[in-house]
Amino acid sequence: MKEYTNHPLRALNSFHVDEYAARIIEFDNPDELDTIFARENAPEQWYTLGGGNNILFTGRYEGTLIHPTGRGIEVMAEDDSSLTIRVEAGVEWDDMVAWCVERGLWGAENLSLIPGSVGASPVQNIGAYGAEAKDIIERVYLFDTHTLQHCSLSNDECHFAYRDSIFKRELRGRAIITAVDFKLSKIASPNLGYGDLSREVESRGGATLQNIREAVCAIRRSKLPDTAILGNAGSFFKNPIVESSVADALLASYPDMPSYPATEGRRKLAAGWLIDRAGMKGHRQGSVGVHDRQALVLVNFGGATGGDVMALAAAVQEAVYAKFGVRIEPEVNVL
Ligand code: EPU
Repeated sequence: MKEYTNHPLRALNSFHVDEYAARIIEFDNPDELDTIFARENAPEQWYTLGGGNNILFTGRYEGTLIHPTGRGIEVMAEDDSSLTIRVEAGVEWDDMVAWCVERGLWGAENLSLIPGSVGASPVQNIGAYGAEAKDIIERVYLFDTHTLQHCSLSNDECHFAYRDSIFKRELRGRAIITAVDFKLSKIASPNLGYGDLSREVESRGGATLQNIREAVCAIRRSKLPDTAILGNAGSFFKNPIVESSVADALLASYPDMPSYPATEGRRKLAAGWLIDRAGMKGHRQGSVGVHDRQALVLVNFGGATGGDVMALAAAVQEAVYAKFGVRIEPEVNVL
C-alpha cells in the first residue's frame, strides 16, 4: 500500500487537467482495503481512480482517491469451448484484450484499444463496435465500504445496460472493484456488424482475431485523438435514448439522422451526429474544443481547467437542445 498527500493529478487523468488530490492511496492486494477502511483516518470522501480516462476534475479533489495497482491475470476454468480468467482491477484494459487475442480467445477483440483499466470496465459497461464488456463479464469482485466485506456479483446482479450498471447506481460511492472474471470463447465468433468494421477486416485478409483487433485499432486511431498528444476522455457524452415518438418526429425532419433500437418503445440517437449537425464539430472555445474528427469527444489543447471543459460541454448541450430539443448527458464522471 502506498499513500501520497497533495498529489498532482495531471499525469493521472487523460484530459490532462492540472488539479491536485488531497490524498491518494494505492492498493495492490484487495486485503489492504480492510486496513485502509478500518483505520482511524479511514476515507470519508473517496473515489476510485482507475486509468483516469473517463474522469474530469473540476477542482482540487479534497477526498481520497483509491487507486488499484494489482496487475494479475489468472486462468480460473477451462473447457473445450471456453476459458475463464480472473483479471485484477489495475490491469490495462487493452493489455487484457491483447492477452486474449494472442491466445486465440474470442470476445474482447472488438473492444481493442479502449483506454482505461479493467476495474473501470464494468462501471460504465464499456462498449464499441457492437460489443460491450457485459458480453464477456462473468463475475465482478468488490470491497463493500459500507459492510467492510469482500463480495462478488454475477453478471445478472450487475444490472448492465448501455453505459450503465449497478456501480453507477445503488453501489455508487460504495463498491471498490478489485477484480473481474471474463469468459472468453475458444470458438471463432466474429462480430462484424458495426459500421465500417467488416470492410476494414476484409481488407486485412478476413476475420481472424488479429485482423479484427488491427482493424478496430486502425478505426479508433483514425477517429479518436491520442490522449498522449491531445487531452480527452473519449466520448464526453452518452448517446441519448429517447421515446420512439421523439425519434420519429426528428426523422421526419432529418431523414438521414442515425438511430438505433433501444429498450421497448425507445430509440438511441447518435450524440456525435446531433453535435455535428448542431454546428459544434470543431468548435473551439479558448483552450478546449470539440474534436474535428469526432464530435462526441471534447479536447484540451493545453492548459485547460475542468471548468473550461464544463463550460464547453454546456455550450454543446445547449446547441443540441436548441436545434433538436434533445438533452445529451455527459458520459464522463465529473468530480
Ligand atoms: N457522427 C457524425 N458526426 C460525428 C460523429 C458521429 O455525423 O462527428 C455520426 C456517425 O456518422 C454515425 C453516428 O454518428 O452515423 C455514430 O457515430 P460513431 O459510429 O462514431 O459511434 P458513436 O455512437 O458516436 C460509440 C461509442 C464510442 C465507440 C463507438 C464505436 C458512445 C457514447 N460512444 O460512438 O465509445 O468507440 O461507438 O463503437 O456510445 C467512448 O465511450 O469513449 C467511445 C469512444
